[in-house]
Parts: sequence; C-alpha cells; structure tokens
Amino acid sequence: MTLIHSDLQRFNPVTVIGAGTIGLSWATLFLAHGLSVRLFDPRTDLQEVVDQHFNSIAPTLSLLGLPSSGFESRLSIGSDLQHAVTGAAVIQENGPEKLLLKQQLFAEIEPYIEPHTLLLSSSSTIPASDISASMKDKSRMLIGHPFNPPLVMPLVEVVPGTFTSAKAVEDALVFYKALGKAPQHIQKEVFGFVANRLQFAMLREAMYLVDEGVVNMEDVDEIVKDSIGLRWAAAGPMLGMHLGGGQGGMEAFMRHLGPTMEKSWVAQGNLMMDEETILRLAEKSRDSYGDLTINELAQTRDQKQMAILKTRTK
Ligand SMILES: NC(=O)c1ccc[n+]([C@@H]2O[C@H](COP(=O)([O-])OP(=O)(O)OC[C@H]3O[C@@H](n4cnc5c(N)ncnc54)[C@H](O)[C@@H]3O)[C@@H](O)[C@H]2O)c1
Repeated sequence: MTLIHSDLQRFNPVTVIGAGTIGLSWATLFLAHGLSVRLFDPRTDLQEVVDQHFNSIAPTLSLLGLPSSGFESRLSIGSDLQHAVTGAAVIQENGPEKLLLKQQLFAEIEPYIEPHTLLLSSSSTIPASDISASMKDKSRMLIGHPFNPPLVMPLVEVVPGTFTSAKAVEDALVFYKALGKAPQHIQKEVFGFVANRLQFAMLREAMYLVDEGVVNMEDVDEIVKDSIGLRWAAAGPMLGMHLGGGQGGMEAFMRHLGPTMEKSWVAQGNLMMDEETILRLAEKSRDSYGDLTINELAQTRDQKQMAILKTRTK
C-alpha cells in the first residue's frame, strides 16, 4: 500500500477533469502518491485511453522512483461530472484551453462541491479571474499550471486571481510541494504566465533564424543544449547575467552588454504563424527529424530529461 504524505491527507480525494495529455499525467502523479482519483472526461473512448496510458507509464514511474501498481482500487473514471466532483478535496481541471468552456465548467460544478474544495486549473494562458467570472465564490479558484508532463517536470505556476484567498494560494503551494513538485507563486496575472512567455520569446527567434536559413532546426537544438540550456539549468538566466558581469554583477553586465542587447532586440525576427510559415517550417522539421518517429524521439528525450533530473536531485 502506498503511504500518503502527511501534508497530502487533507487533499484526498482529487478529481481530475479532462483526461488528455495533462489530465492523465496529473492523475498518474496523484495516484503514485497514494491519493484517490476520480477522472472525468466526456470522451466516449475514455476507458480505452486510460488503459493505454496506464499500460505504458510504468517505466517512467520507476525511473522517477514512484510506485506503479495498486492504482485500480483508488481510480474511478466516468462522464458524470456531478458524481466526479461531489466530495472532492481538490479539483484539477484540464479541459480544452477555451475560456467559455472553463468558465461554464467551474460555474457548473460549484453547487456540488464542498466549501473547502481547492479548485485548480492547468490553463496555460487564461487567468483565474476570467475562469472564475461566473462563480459565486471565487476565493478558492486559482491556476496550477504545470510544465508538460506534470508527472515529470518539477515546475507548477501557482497564479491566483483577483479574488483568490491567501489561504487557497497557501493550500495549493502545500499540495504541490507534498507531491514533490516545485511550485512558484506568480504575483500578478499576465497572459501566458511566466515560463511560457519566456519560452515563446526564445522560440520566436529560433524559428525566425531557421526560416531565414541561418541554421537548421537540429543545429538550434545543439547550440542551446551546449550553451544556454546548460547554463540556465544550473543558474537560471538572471543569476547567469549577474555572474556574467564579473565582480560588478548585474549592473556591470547591463552597462557592458546592454547596448548590444538593445541592438539585438531591434534586429530580432517577428514571425507570423500563418499557413505558409507553418508549412515551410514543418518541411524543415521533417528534414531535421524525419528519420525517427515521434515516439522514438520522445523516448530519447525522456531518458535524458530523467537523467538530468536525477543528477539535479543529487
Ligand atoms: N499540453 C501541454 O503542453 C500543456 C501544458 C500545460 C498546461 N496545459 C493546459 O492543460 C489543459 C489541457 O491541455 P491538454 O494538452 O491536456 O489538452 P488535450 O486536448 O490533450 O485534453 C483535453 C481533454 O479535455 C476533454 N474535454 C473536452 N471537453 C470537455 C469538457 N467540457 N469538460 C471536461 N473535459 C473536456 C477532452 O476530451 C480531452 O480529453 C489546457 O488548459 C492546456 O492549456 C497544456
């Protein structure tokens, strides 16, 4: 029997809404930590999708040092929303990234949930203030945005809305920490939160450079892995800058390289994601990665990622 961390006892059971990429990964993490999970999704092939997922996830769990058996008795699945949310201590929502759908979903479940139920949405971009707009009590609803896959990646961005209580934020931080995650309390609601805004800023330039024929896609990967990726995994970008300034720290860095950075910002590409660009870049991705299947590429990526995570933990 999997023991539940003492900090997790009060967050049991958990309802996971939406059994797609993110919902299934969250459900696995919750089960592996001994929690009971009710998984809701309106899709007609739910049982099949769940079976497929749990049949293939054991190697990842074992690499993470988490149990991979004994889940059946603690997992229930279904397409009855009221049944799934009644009595839940936590709800982690992972439906499609559509404002209206999420708004309606949270308003619909409100009459059936306990006064203390913690309401979390995995939304990548939509702020809690918008999602909770149609709710009577908005105080326990907030964003718990993971990096994909939540089972593996440490970061969860905890982003309260205007009406979220300090208690709900604290509960979310305790909940995710007890699950072994690295939650970050984001102080202010902004579109895309933080990790994706940073990621997308860099991806814009990477795609522009590939589109301009400056580098191939696989060259960008190697350049980043052998320089920025390595540095950022150890120190992050801001401490990296501070150290880049030598004894003078951040201020010296900005005085020294600030003008060059400014020039570079002006020169950076502004790619539009229109159909022609998508087709052009898709062709380039086939040139770079087409010899291997997505599953083969993902497997190698996962193994490397897990090895890096293990080294970090040590
Ligand atoms: N994929 C990512 O990289 C990623 C990362 C972090 C956060 N997110 C966020 O997580 C959420 C889910 O993303 P995903 O990638 O798992 O999407 P997905 O398309 O894989 O899964 C969405 C699931 O929601 C279900 N669904 C459809 N209508 C529903 C309804 N009315 N109620 C409940 N469920 C419904 C679908 O059947 C599907 O199984 C989104 O808000 C997304 O922004 C995604």
